[in-house]
Amino acid sequence: MNATRKIYADYNASTPLHPQVIKYLKERLDLDLWANPNSHHKMGKMLLDGINRCRTICADSLAADTDSIIFTSGASEGISTIFHVICGNRDSNKDILLISSIEHPAVSESANYYKKFGYKVIKWPVNHHGEIDLNFIKSDLDNFKERVAMVAIMAANNESGVIQPIEEVGLYCERYSIPFFSDTTQLIAKEEFNFNKSAMDFAVISAHKFSGPIGVGAILYKHHKPHLKKILKENALILGGGQQEGLRSGTQNYLGIECMSVALRASIEDYKESKKLLHKYRMRFENDLCAQFKNLIILGSGASRRLPQTTLLSYPGIYGPIIQQQLDSQNIFVSTSAACSDHSNSNHQQKSAGIAQLMGYSEDVARGMIRVSLGGLDIVDNSEEIYKLLHLKFSQAILKLAKVGEW
Ligand SMILES: Cc1ncc(COP(=O)(O)O)c(C=O)c1O
Repeated sequence: MNATRKIYADYNASTPLHPQVIKYLKERLDLDLWANPNSHHKMGKMLLDGINRCRTICADSLAADTDSIIFTSGASEGISTIFHVICGNRDSNKDILLISSIEHPAVSESANYYKKFGYKVIKWPVNHHGEIDLNFIKSDLDNFKERVAMVAIMAANNESGVIQPIEEVGLYCERYSIPFFSDTTQLIAKEEFNFNKSAMDFAVISAHKFSGPIGVGAILYKHHKPHLKKILKENALILGGGQQEGLRSGTQNYLGIECMSVALRASIEDYKESKKLLHKYRMRFENDLCAQFKNLIILGSGASRRLPQTTLLSYPGIYGPIIQQQLDSQNIFVSTSAACSDHSNSNHQQKSAGIAQLMGYSEDVARGMIRVSLGGLDIVDNSEEIYKLLHLKFSQAILKLAKVGEW
């Protein structure tokens, strides 16, 4: 084992490009095919055909229909659009947005934004394992069914990796014909996903979470429900030249869309191949660390389902960023919190500590948090070696810092 080996373990924040994307790009750049895909000349048409082929690849990979896909600049745009579409289509009787307390800021801030237009936001709590409680949901939906404009529950949490019971939530929403949106950004290409079979009305994807480029993603919607297409069109967030049937104007990012399609197909294959081994070595890593350090906590380990490549751990009493620095100096890159917000945002640290406290842990636990999230080809070929090295480096760092009594 090479002790100076670089380990990038921050895949939930962003991922390196998949080797198949790099190969595709190299060959693609040599084609010298550039134009506006909406131009009527041959080059424009070739690009538009290419975008439509990508739509089919994405649809097949996500078990969705081709007509269900609207390309965007990423998950945040998709999420803002969905809220804009629902809240812009104001029905005065429907004034409640129901979300979970652990949503990504792209969801929680979008919901909060509409408070000034008279919406009330109800946030469902999570239990100690980071799972939303279905009983709260059922009782709120029973009580407020006529008033709920939309329910939004994330599929997998970006920090703990805990997978939420979205199927049950979706079915309950369906019973009352309440639009259901699930932020599937972290689930895609890490767990099986079938949009058509799901009870979701909307979902979103973001290429940089599955080894595609930053700045491209998609909204998925159930196109066979005609009212959804109608409200998407009438309340489109990005207006302009009417591209993508007027659902999202703006010249299509065809190079990004092509690379996203390659990445999506390749990453789904990688995860299919590596999921079992990844789970096995991740569990060994967690169990070995817990056996060695009695105070160590794995947040979300008691949940029924968790993403197979995410570990959120904390050693209360050792400040997470100090462990991170120790690991950084050895070329091991983990995160102390979701890298979702700009570092210039002074609330960054405060917001990111939220997940531990929302799960009922103390501030000590929140301050000790470190997230390890793997992915890419590394996990197909080397997950055993990587988790062994991570175990070694974590235990060295904890031993050193626990002795020094940092913070
Ligand atoms: C759960 C979740 N939703 C939404 C986003 C936002 O994604 P994007 O960077 O594509 O805007 C992220 C990114 O961290 C995320 O983890």
